Amino acid sequence: MRLLALPGLLCALVAASPDPKWPEPVFGRLASPGFPEPYANNQERRWALEAPPGYRLRLYFTHFHLELSYRCEYDFVKLSAGTKALATLCGWESTDTERAPGNHSFSSPGPRLEVAFRSDYSNEQPFTGFEAFYAAEDIDECHEPPGDAPPCDHHCHNHLGGFYCSCRAGYALHRDGRTCSALCSGQVLTERSGELSSPEYPEPYPKLSSCDYSIRLDEGLRIALDFVGSFDVEAHPEVQCPYDFLKIQAGSREYGPFCGTTPPPRIETQSNTATITFVTDDSGDHTGWKIRYTSTAQRCPDPRAPPNGRISPVQSQYVLKDSFSVFCDTGFELLQGSLPLKSFAAVCQRDGTWDRPMPQCSVVDCGPPDELPNGRVDYITGPEVTSYQAAVRYRCAEPFYSINSNDSKYVCEADGFWTSSRGEKSLPSCEPVCGLSARAARAPGGRIVGGRAARPGDFPWQVLLRGAGGTAAGALLGDRWVLTAAHAVFELRDDAPGLDVRLGALRRLDPQAVRARAQAVLVHPGYAHGAGFDHDVALVRLRDPVALGRSVAPICLPGRAAGALAGAGAVGSVAGWGLTRRGFLAGSLLYVDVPVADPRACAAAYEQRPGPRVTSNMLCAGLEAGGRDSCRGDSGGALAFLDEGARRWVAGGIVSWGSVQCGEAGQYGVYTKVANYVPWIEDSIANFSARPQPGKDGF
Ligand code: ARG
Repeated sequence: MRLLALPGLLCALVAASPDPKWPEPVFGRLASPGFPEPYANNQERRWALEAPPGYRLRLYFTHFHLELSYRCEYDFVKLSAGTKALATLCGWESTDTERAPGNHSFSSPGPRLEVAFRSDYSNEQPFTGFEAFYAAEDIDECHEPPGDAPPCDHHCHNHLGGFYCSCRAGYALHRDGRTCSALCSGQVLTERSGELSSPEYPEPYPKLSSCDYSIRLDEGLRIALDFVGSFDVEAHPEVQCPYDFLKIQAGSREYGPFCGTTPPPRIETQSNTATITFVTDDSGDHTGWKIRYTSTAQRCPDPRAPPNGRISPVQSQYVLKDSFSVFCDTGFELLQGSLPLKSFAAVCQRDGTWDRPMPQCSVVDCGPPDELPNGRVDYITGPEVTSYQAAVRYRCAEPFYSINSNDSKYVCEADGFWTSSRGEKSLPSCEPVCGLSARAARAPGGRIVGGRAARPGDFPWQVLLRGAGGTAAGALLGDRWVLTAAHAVFELRDDAPGLDVRLGALRRLDPQAVRARAQAVLVHPGYAHGAGFDHDVALVRLRDPVALGRSVAPICLPGRAAGALAGAGAVGSVAGWGLTRRGFLAGSLLYVDVPVADPRACAAAYEQRPGPRVTSNMLCAGLEAGGRDSCRGDSGGALAFLDEGARRWVAGGIVSWGSVQCGEAGQYGVYTKVANYVPWIEDSIANFSARPQPGKDGF
């Protein structure tokens, strides 16, 4: 037979077949000698018929009449193909003892058919012989395979003169034209575990195939192979796997070849890659193999959480690419060496080590708490202990300052900040305490004109102001404002630095006095210089706060009960370095206690002479008999009243004006009524702090 790879070529090849032996198409007629006359004795004829490859010959008789004999030994027609006898025929149609062809037709197995006719030496009667016809006929090799095995592995296609094979998807036709080789090369597996098997497993594996499977895993992983299920690869009793075999290459090591029916033992490669090769020959019917592979990675040492820390996630083992993070307990923070870390994560590397060392959880330290101006911080937990949950308490320098909050305990929190129990992170502040004085009790009598010498701390609010106009005074408010008389600072209202401000001294020219720099002079807008003393009030802003203590402390402003405090009959104290009775400025601070006078009597007394008039913004103080008074140079100083209940001194008046003689009988010293100016004072102070201060850094 002739095999053709492509059916389309069939006709062309058959038609072009140049073999001259075959008149085409192949058919013909055979007959006994002399037919239809009876054949003669001792005749012998042979016909060698041949069809093209892939064809057979079919022959049938239209006439058959031969001498009958036992086993057709006398006369016969013999059909054969090569050495194979197909039939020996004699007799005629109605005989049934020996073989006559009757309606039977005969086919050659292949393209050849030999026909022989013979007659013996005698015939008892004439026999007319035979007539036969033959024709070439296509063989359906797909259904009548020439051998025992099916002609094709997978699909068989018959055509005139031959057949061809084809394969299912995943296979390719082998060069032999009939075997289907599996397309099983170049398969790559990258999962950490999996299965692979011979093609069609557990059905028989394909022939003439060469399969390779690559397992390629990340470096650091090690592949192990287990043969599972049945194992059946064609083997040979003496020679090692000559037909079909399985081979495994892992790293530099080779395993196999394997064949037979005993599964190979587990293979633990030390490699992250393995190639499995499976080669089959053209015969055999074996079911193959199946491998389950797994991989293990080099383990990294189990991480141990540092003290006060924990590890996440917790795993029974950590291998390549696994990672863990460290979280510190509240109040602790990650530290690597001495570097603080925001977070920490380590990754297991292929050599089984962690990519970075374990950090520590070190306790949060808030550091020394900020210092409190005019106060201090007391450690509660222990001296200088500033770690997580340590506590401190802020205190102010009492009695001169008081804390503005009753939440003065601060704890070092996990965020590293000192925090009050209300969650406040900014400091409390120490506010000046006003109205303190060393004077134990209100001493009677005295006057600046012939007054008494003040002792240290008696009038800590007393401020000496020296400027263009000479000597004046003021009273400290808070720790950076001075209350004074408008007329005393009017000349310097646009020249604050020209003002010499001294505090905390008794002696007028004490070089030890606290000097302060004036930043601004605020004169009451209602004050008209040279036109009386109405609204004779002003404020001096100091560039920097002054430190308060025994000798420097503010006076209080009147509260709601101011009227009663500085009402007629109440006794106030006024201090100053103004003129004494002898007509000189006092060398050391003097003070005098004066009762508040009846305003009508005071107003009436000044009505009787030319000069300034007493207004409702003023109060008068002094004795009707005279002798106790402030005088020139005392202007701007406070007329202070003791609030007995609060034990605080309050500025009820500001030295403003009076009789030139000072201490004159029937006349009184006149003071600005501070109670009338509390709103202006407070607003001025508040607004000054709120507005931008262009002159703050220089003049
Ligand atoms: N205007 C005076 C001065 O500039 C104060 C006068 C006080 N006179 C009196 N008699 N109280 O210092």
